[in-house]
Amino acid sequence: MPRPVACAIFAAVVFTAAGAAQAAADPVAAAVSRGRAFAERNCAACHAVGPTGASPRRKAPPFRALAGRFVPLTLQRRLTEISETGHYEMPPFAVHSDEASDVAAYLNSLERP
Ligand code: HEC
Repeated sequence: MPRPVACAIFAAVVFTAAGAAQAAADPVAAAVSRGRAFAERNCAACHAVGPTGASPRRKAPPFRALAGRFVPLTLQRRLTEISETGHYEMPPFAVHSDEASDVAAYLNSLERP
């Protein structure tokens, strides 16, 4: 086999393997994207959930401001409390602990642009 062809095949194999590994083996990125979807569905009515913009409800802190306020564990505990008691005008609703940790992962990702 001519050398340039062998090199091209080798490069293709390496790139494909790297891409697949990245998609499958980044649990943080997966949690962040689940958390973002969850926040957009359940929290965006009151909170600014993205990296910019003001909260629809003025008193609700934008999620990017919460990122610096909570370490992941306290945030997760707070979200679990919120899911049991509700907060402010927000009615209680079930947040599974997996969902709480996804939202925590998403919040903390906002801190690092
Ligand atoms: C109906 C409106 C509403 C919705 C929906 C809502 N929030 Fe809030 N949230 C508020 C308001 C208002 C505050 C600020 C209250 C204050 O500090 O006086 C707040 C504060 C918070 C805080 C800070 C709590 C603290 O301990 O200071 C967290 C964390 C939070 N919300 C998370 C969430 C998450 C996660 C969701 C979606 C699952 C959500 N909120 C949905 C209105 C809402």
